[in-house]
Amino acid sequence: MKVCVLLSVLTCGVLTAGSYKNKPTYSADIAPILNANCVSCHRPGQVAPFSLLTYSDAAKRATLLAEVTKSHYMPPWKPEPGFGEFKGERRLTPEQIQLISDWAKAGAPPGDLKTAPAPPVFATGWSQGKPDVTLALQKPFEVPAESPDIYRCFVLPFQSEQAKYVKVMEFRAGNPRIVHHALVYLDNTGQARKLAAQSGGDSYPCFGGTGFVLAGSLGGWAPGAVPYPLGPGLARTIPPNTDIVIQIHYHPDGKPETDLSQIGLWYGEAPTKGFTPILVLTRRIDIPPGDADYRVHASLVLPQDVQVIGITPHAHYVCKETKVEATLPDGKVVPLIWIKDWDFNWQGQYQFAQPISLPKGTTVTLDFTYDNSSGNPRNPSNPPKRITWGEQTTDEMAIAFLSVVLPSPADVQPFRRALYFANVRH
Ligand code: HEC
Repeated sequence: MKVCVLLSVLTCGVLTAGSYKNKPTYSADIAPILNANCVSCHRPGQVAPFSLLTYSDAAKRATLLAEVTKSHYMPPWKPEPGFGEFKGERRLTPEQIQLISDWAKAGAPPGDLKTAPAPPVFATGWSQGKPDVTLALQKPFEVPAESPDIYRCFVLPFQSEQAKYVKVMEFRAGNPRIVHHALVYLDNTGQARKLAAQSGGDSYPCFGGTGFVLAGSLGGWAPGAVPYPLGPGLARTIPPNTDIVIQIHYHPDGKPETDLSQIGLWYGEAPTKGFTPILVLTRRIDIPPGDADYRVHASLVLPQDVQVIGITPHAHYVCKETKVEATLPDGKVVPLIWIKDWDFNWQGQYQFAQPISLPKGTTVTLDFTYDNSSGNPRNPSNPPKRITWGEQTTDEMAIAFLSVVLPSPADVQPFRRALYFANVRH
């Protein structure tokens, strides 16, 4: 098969697998793969540590490119194939992985560089035209050359007397070399402002949580993420007199840097459908030091038919596997997401390719596994310490956020009440 996709139908049958008539070359075979799957991050000024825009960039790392694609480390895409289908999946086909490997083995031949495809042109502006409102950090944030990763919450200057209905939120990293990911939350308790004032300005340190009870979320960003407008009838509501708080994860790059990130919001009509997050979680986490295979389980029964459009698993550093499934009342199991190599640094907010309908009586289950041994290089404590639920780097969490759609906005409150009563005993 591998050979057949490359060669004409006529010659295909007579060749044995692995014997390319033409050896893969950079110009004909590899550049198109890198352009489509890698250079969105691997170009100057972006998050990846080196560029892959030219032949020499790629050729000098040919063996490494073959290794990281074979191991599926790159392009970064955590969810397990066949276990939930998502928008914007970043995955190479087995044929593409084989091509890169064969090319590296052949000594990274350039082919005719004059015919190599030009790298794509990246938009410098906002993805959806001019936003209805743009909001930036109140002042540039300084990130030192060397430091452990920094998690910081910024209160944006946003207050509206009327509710606003957000169709699209786009985060733009001010300094993509150091911004690793961002989550955008709503606070109508005033707590974020207080915490910022206590830290002497517009921001405060925050890692696993934000320090306030969320009034909602506007979504998030990780390198390579594309903002998707919400479907017909849907919008995220910013209640009146609410602050927007961005939690940003910075990864210092060896030089002193500053960041002035911003968000753009596009407003729409008031939603005609209900839209609410539900959380499947357990706080019962108590991981003994040295335990390399600690498991938690949580479940939640849906009191009403819903559609799920997105899912975001959340845990910290020693988590190694996150799995979420739905068991329908008839016993059928619907896979939602499975990340076998959980990495706190690649937190994705995954949007399903198609909404998933879950009928009343469905049980959503969460099964997370943790490695609190000294053999886990991501363990924040060495020697390992007992780990319990909490917001700090040295604590853990076990949460799956599901974005759920209901027939009408009026359904949200009754649904949340019913959800609570259906699950008090769980
Ligand atoms: C979404 C952004 C993104 C995309 C897309 C991406 N990379 Fe990367 N890549 C990174 C980042 C960030 C790192 C640094 C390591 C890390 O943070 O995990 C990296 C590191 C690497 C490394 C170094 C690994 C090491 O062990 O030193 C290689 C090689 C690489 N990428 C190749 C690729 C190839 C080939 C593709 C496309 C098939 C690709 N990357 C697509 C972001 C990306």
